[in-house]
Amino acid sequence: MYEFYPYFTNDGSTGLYSPEDDDIYHSAFGALTEAYEKFILPAEFDFKNNSEIQILDLCFGIGYNTKSFLNYFLDFLYNETIHTNNSFDKNKCIEKIVTDNKKYKISIHAVDKDKNLACMSPFIVTDKKISNKNRCGFKNAKIEKMLSGKTKINYKLKKEVNILLLKKLAEKIQKDTEDVIFSKEYSEFFDSFMKRYYEFFKYERIQKHPLRNLSAFLHNIYYLHISTCNKKAMKCLKLFDFDFRLSIGDARQIILDDKNTYNYIFLDAFTPAKCPCLWTLDFFKQLYHRLDDNGMILTYSNSASIRNAFQEAGFFIGKNSFNGKSNGTVAVKNKSLIKNELSEFDLGLLKTKAGIFYRDENLNALNDSIIAAHKIEVENSHLKSSSKFIKEFSKS
Ligand SMILES: C[S@@+](CC[C@H](N)C(=O)[O-])C[C@H]1O[C@@H](n2cnc3c(N)ncnc32)[C@H](O)[C@@H]1O
Repeated sequence: MYEFYPYFTNDGSTGLYSPEDDDIYHSAFGALTEAYEKFILPAEFDFKNNSEIQILDLCFGIGYNTKSFLNYFLDFLYNETIHTNNSFDKNKCIEKIVTDNKKYKISIHAVDKDKNLACMSPFIVTDKKISNKNRCGFKNAKIEKMLSGKTKINYKLKKEVNILLLKKLAEKIQKDTEDVIFSKEYSEFFDSFMKRYYEFFKYERIQKHPLRNLSAFLHNIYYLHISTCNKKAMKCLKLFDFDFRLSIGDARQIILDDKNTYNYIFLDAFTPAKCPCLWTLDFFKQLYHRLDDNGMILTYSNSASIRNAFQEAGFFIGKNSFNGKSNGTVAVKNKSLIKNELSEFDLGLLKTKAGIFYRDENLNALNDSIIAAHKIEVENSHLKSSSKFIKEFSKS
């Protein structure tokens, strides 16, 4: 079966671990919180003035960034409906939006090399209140140490978000993904409503088959006409539609073949030290062509080498900040979009050995070779070491 290492992060959302990379996919602090605070809130989307938004979600994984975006957008629609309609009835909220929302056009292009993960996305549990015991579905002392006693739910995803996404992905789900989603071993990490809901799509497919069976037929009668969950879900499906494209493969090749431009690019690869191929100067040069002139790349990394690579590729860079906390880096083509400039210290660091970036001229090198070549370049460099710079800077 597909290797799967889930754990409940401190905000009750499911995080994953990759033994192959010995890296966590999501911060133990909170997978959903991380998506909201590093990718969604710092972007300060202005839907009122930009009703057409194209997003490139690089390293989609189990889809936290896309789902958080959809959740945030639905919140905006709900609020807009409340403000424009005095006789607003909360219970009729969904119906109201269905009729009102014709003006927004959202397109999301999700990219990841792991199809199983992407297809699991709509099923993943994101709000489990659980004690420290049994937080981890596997043994890993390092992760267990990072998990705190109490779950603190900071953000909540609406069920509609998962339903909307499942509608886009249902056709792509194959048996190997189903085996994980429906296995007893991992059952607490997958939402049981979504599992039942998926059966609806599955049975619908079976029904189309000439040899449709009776149980499929009865299941759909139940879901279509009796289940209240389904009735609500059907309204959500009409709520608003968005373009969703999932590309499976190496992001470098996918970007080379992509001719679109995007307003926002979420770059959520494993750390530069683990997955340098998605943080190189050469990859960033490709992203430059894919970013709209008023677009923004958001990433969680504060590393001097990636900041320097962004600059070298032609971007202006700033801090990715939320609530005064620096959460990474933003890269833009239009300098006026930078709200939080890098400090003198950050800029100084770019000129040290720490600022030497990774290279991948033909966009096909293995991570290990990129790391080895980078190591040689750092060793042979005459630039100041970062530790010397830090010492001098703190003295001055
Ligand atoms: C830190 S995780 C991303 C977490 C994700 N944003 C989420 O919400 O779950 C990094 C992801 O990068 C993917 N990945 C690693 N190397 C890649 C490559 N060369 N091209 C595309 N995806 C890659 C992995 O499969 C993994 O899902």
